[in-house]
This record gives sequence, C-alpha cells and structure tokens, in this order.
Amino acid sequence: MSSEHDQDPLRHHGDVDAESGLLDFAVNVRLDRPPAWLRQRLAAALDDLGRYPSAADDAAARAAAAARHGRDADEVLLLAGAAEGFSLLPSLRPRLAALVHPSFTEPEVALRTAGVAVTRVQLDPADGYRLDAEAVPEQADLVVLGNPTNPTSVLHPAAEVERLLRPGRVVVVDEAFADTVPGEPESLAGRRDPGLLVLRSLTKMWGLPGLRAGYALGTPELLARLARTRPHWPIGSLVLEAVRACCEPGALAESERAAAEFTAHRDGLVAELTALPGVEVVLPARAPFLLLRVDGGERVRAELRERGVAVRRGDTFPGLGADHLRVAVRDPEHNALLVKAFRDVLGRG
Ligand SMILES: Cc1ncc(COP(=O)(O)O)c(C=O)c1O
Repeated sequence: MSSEHDQDPLRHHGDVDAESGLLDFAVNVRLDRPPAWLRQRLAAALDDLGRYPSAADDAAARAAAAARHGRDADEVLLLAGAAEGFSLLPSLRPRLAALVHPSFTEPEVALRTAGVAVTRVQLDPADGYRLDAEAVPEQADLVVLGNPTNPTSVLHPAAEVERLLRPGRVVVVDEAFADTVPGEPESLAGRRDPGLLVLRSLTKMWGLPGLRAGYALGTPELLARLARTRPHWPIGSLVLEAVRACCEPGALAESERAAAEFTAHRDGLVAELTALPGVEVVLPARAPFLLLRVDGGERVRAELRERGVAVRRGDTFPGLGADHLRVAVRDPEHNALLVKAFRDVLGRG
C-alpha cells in the first residue's frame, strides 16, 4: 500500500522539464505541431463549433476508431486524451488497484485522489523491468500498466499482459505509445475480454497534446461503467474530427512510416549513448524514448540544461532515482546534438 508516499512527484511531467528555449528531449511528442493535412481538417471543422456535437458525430468517430482496431463502434469510448481515461477509473469502484511501476504516474494520482486503495508492483531493473504477471497481488481487482511503458521503453509481450486477466478484475493497458511500435505486435486493442480496457491516444503520434484526444476500447458494459459520471457532450467537435481523420488509411500509413523511422533513429541513438562512459541504456527499448542510468545523473541533467538541452528527470517515477534520465528519440540531426551535449558534460565530470 502506498498511502505514505508523497503524491507531488507523481504530478511531475516532461513538459515542466522542457522549458522554452531548450532543445526538448524531455517531452515524447513526435511533432511540434500537427501535420498540415490534419491542421487543415481541424480548421475546416471550426464551422461545426456553432452547434453541439450530435450523437451521429460521436458515432462516426467511434466507428472510425473501431474499424481501425477490428471492433464495433459500441466498443469505443471517446476521451479527452488517455488522461481522461485514468480519471474515470474510480467510477469502476475498485477495492484495490495495482499499479505496475515504473510507469506513467497519472493513473496512480487519479486513483489515490479519489480515495481508491493502491498498491505498487515494482518491476525489477535486474530483469530489464519486464512484466511478471505473478507479481501482481491476486486480490487486486484493477491493474494498470503501460505498453510500451513510459519511462522504461519496455514492450511487454501481449501473452504476459493477458495472464493478468481474471474474472472480477479489470486490466487497463495504457497504449498511448502503441502506435509508435511498427505493426503494434503486442497491442491488445483488438482483443475482446470483459475485463480488458485499452486506452489509446492521438497525442504522441500526431503532435496533438493541446487538443486532448484519445479513446478507450472495451466491452460496451465496461465502457458504460466507466462513463457513468461524465457530463453530456464530453467530447468537442474538433476531437471528433481528429479521431476520424487519424483513423483514415492515409493517416495509418503515415503513422506506420513514422513508427519505422522511430525504430531506425532509436537504434542509432542507442549505439551512440551506450558508447559513452558512465551511461547505461535500458534495453531492449521499443518506444520513442530511452531510459538511461547515468552516473551523477542530477549534475548531468543540470549541465545539459546549461548547454540548452532538456531531458526528463527520472526520479519522480516510482522505483527510479536521481541517476535515471529519460530522453526522447528525435531525428538523427537532433540526436547528434544530444549525444554531443552528453559527451561534453561527461567529459568534464
Ligand atoms: C504513457 C502515457 N500515457 C498517457 C499519457 C497521456 O496521454 P494523453 O495526452 O492522451 O492524455 C501520457 C502523456 O504523457 C503518457 O506518457
């Protein structure tokens, strides 16, 4: 049980590390703004703001997301970002929530703020932070994990995640970064199970953190329980348009190309960073960011900042310490600037 833990570090996110003017390796959003075709779609939808979003608009966006994952429209609940999905979890009235860490901290914040009893399942660095379904207490009726996981970049096998499923338990898989993995081999987005809830986000792939767009996939019964306390018109017309646009074949092809690019760029960055003295990279990494363990991490982070480079502190993630840093994978030109800054700082250490 973790009621004794301080909540404040859990509220820290990379956007705070990425002060303006710094070269941003702290935030894991692919683009600094949505692509031109998507901005045009959103601009064209501005006229829709003159009326309330209709049930038909909502159904069309749900149908688009459902088709993408081989599901039915009533198995999709549109969200103001995956973050809204976490905030709705207390509506499931769990008795004990198990949070698999190190991981994105918003689910824990949402559950604890609502007074839900929470236990942390700490994955083992010696085992590469891999999921061990056995480590999750049997009495947990809600389990939350990320796949791929922020900040470790670990992609858990779908079969291991499925081992968490039990009658009477809801397993929430945060797949906010799933579309950055080519082919999404371990995604459970298409899997129908009464206790499985998958959260997806448009934020990372499409440069849309300011829009707040995502959706949940689950059985209609589970989604109805989740949505119990939502207001009428919870999702605005621009989000509905973004979901439709980002699920079209052209967008999916672009997303798949971007995922392949991330893989190539990440491999290059891993090779450079592992060659630096005093830097360990958590491997294998499958997301568009890397978790590093760096000797004197706090000093290194401060000196990188002095050189104009922002990286994400790791110590606010449960189970990590001051020597842990998370860096985003960018294009080779920017990655080279990161490596150079590290080299300069470590050379002085
Ligand atoms: C792992 C993970 N899940 C979910 C989110 C939130 O996503 P959204 O912007 O869709 O609310 C983030 C944002 O940083 C994240 O890192």
